[in-house]
Amino acid sequence: MKKPASSNSRREFVKKTSGALLASTISVNVFGKEVHKHRFNSDTLKVGLIGCGGRGTGAALQATKADPNVVLTAMADIFPDRLEQSYQNLLKENASKIQVDKDHMFIGFDGYKKVLESDVDVVILATPPSFRPGHLADSVAAGKHIFCEKPVAVDAPGIRSVLETAKKAKEKGLALMSGFCWRHDNPKIETYDRILDGAIGDVLSIYNTYNTGALWYHEPKPEWSKVETTLRNWLYYNWLSGDHIVEQAVHSVDLMSWALGDVLPLTATATGGRQSRTEEQWGNVFDHFAVVYEYANGVKGYHFSRQQKGCSRAYGIEIMGDKGRCDIHVGNKHKVIGKKDWSWEDKKEERNNMYQSEHDTLFASIRAGKPFFDGIKMANSTMLAIWGRMAAYTGQTISWEEALNSEEVLAPPLDDYSWDMQWPLKEVARPGITKFV
Ligand SMILES: NC(=O)c1ccc[n+]([C@@H]2O[C@H](COP(=O)([O-])OP(=O)(O)OC[C@H]3O[C@@H](n4cnc5c(N)ncnc54)[C@H](O)[C@@H]3O)[C@@H](O)[C@H]2O)c1
Repeated sequence: MKKPASSNSRREFVKKTSGALLASTISVNVFGKEVHKHRFNSDTLKVGLIGCGGRGTGAALQATKADPNVVLTAMADIFPDRLEQSYQNLLKENASKIQVDKDHMFIGFDGYKKVLESDVDVVILATPPSFRPGHLADSVAAGKHIFCEKPVAVDAPGIRSVLETAKKAKEKGLALMSGFCWRHDNPKIETYDRILDGAIGDVLSIYNTYNTGALWYHEPKPEWSKVETTLRNWLYYNWLSGDHIVEQAVHSVDLMSWALGDVLPLTATATGGRQSRTEEQWGNVFDHFAVVYEYANGVKGYHFSRQQKGCSRAYGIEIMGDKGRCDIHVGNKHKVIGKKDWSWEDKKEERNNMYQSEHDTLFASIRAGKPFFDGIKMANSTMLAIWGRMAAYTGQTISWEEALNSEEVLAPPLDDYSWDMQWPLKEVARPGITKFV
C-alpha cells in the first residue's frame, strides 16, 4: 500500500497509536445536566457530518461509538432545521462525543467545503445521492477518510467519476467505506461464506426483492420555494435519488451481486412504471421495477421491487444452485438446502448491529493503518441498479459497456445547485418511447 500524502502526517501517527489511550474528560453542562466532555488528544479522530438527516445522524452516532477516541466536530446541511434536529438528537445520545461549536455548523450548498476545510480526519457523506460523486471527489482531494452512504451516484457519468475518485483514495491510503450495510450483517456473512464456498454448487439463478410500501413525504409549507419543496422531497425526483431501484432496492441488487462473487452481468432487460403514485407530488419516479440480469453461461438474476401502498411486502433473496438452494428472508431467516443443510440459528450473542459494525470496521482499519476500501464494489453495485433503471425506462436490452458509458446526465454539477436553480424535470419515462442515451 502506498504511503498516505504528507499532509496526513498526524493521521499516520494516529493510525499507529491505539485508540484505547483514552483522553481525559472535563465536566460541562448540556440540557442542564452535568456531562463529561471528551477531551481531545493527539490520537483523537475528528469526524465531520455532511447531510444531517436520518441516516447521517445515525451514522454519526455509530462513528462516535466505534472507538473510544472519536469526536464529532463539524456538521453541514442545506437546511438549518435539519442540522439543529440532528445535533440535538446526537447530544441526547452521546453528549460527551458531540463537540460541534457554532462556528463548525455550516448551512448551504457549500457547507460541505467548510467541513472539508476544518481539521476533521473522517467525513460521513449522507446527503441525497446526486451530490455524492462531487462530495466524494472533494473529500478525497482533501485527504479525508470516508464513510459514504449508498447509492454513490444517480447516473453513469457519476459512477465513472466515483471510480476515478476511488482509485485516488486507494493511492492516497484513505479508508473508503460504503453504506452497503448488509455486507456487515453476521447472518448474511455466514450464509454468503457458505454460498461462495460451493454449499449449493454453482449458482444458476437469483431472485431478489425489495417490495415495500409508501415512504415519507414532507407536505410543502407556504414559505417553501419549488426548489426547497423538491430538495426536501428528494426521493421522488430521479435527478436527486436515482429513482427507488437505485436509492433503496439497490440493497437487494447488491445482495445478488455478492452471491455471484461480484462478477458483472452481460445484459439487463427490464420493465417498470408508475401506477399508484401518479400525482405531481411524486415527481418523476416509477413505483415498480422488474429486471432480468443475464450473466455468462446463462446465469440469471431476477430483481423485483416496488414502493406501493397496500401491497404485500417482501425483502428476500432466493439463490438456486445446481446442488441446492439458499433462502434469505427478512427477520433473520437464512437457510441453505444443499450438500449439507444449514440454517442460521438466531443466537443473541452472534447477532450484530450491522450499522455499528460498519463503523467499528472502518475506525479499526484507520487505527491499524490498513484502510478499509470498498470503492469499486460500491460503484459497481450502484451501477447495477442504475443499469436496471435504464433498461426499464427505455424498454431496451442494454449491455454493461453501454450502460457504464451512457452519457445521460441526471444530476447537475455541484456548482449548479442554488436556491433559484432551474434544473429541468424530465418527464416520466415511457418504455419503448424514452430513448437510451
Ligand atoms: N444504508 C442504509 O440502510 C440507508 C438507510 C437510509 C438511507 N440511506 C441513504 O442515506 C442517504 C441519506 O438518506 P436519509 O434517509 O438520511 O435522507 P434525509 O432526507 O433524512 O437526509 C438527507 C439530508 O441531507 C441534507 N442535504 C441535502 N442536500 C445537501 C447538501 N448538498 N449538502 C448538505 N446536506 C444536504 C438534507 O437537508 C437532509 O437533512 C441516501 O443516500 C439514502 O439512500 C441508507
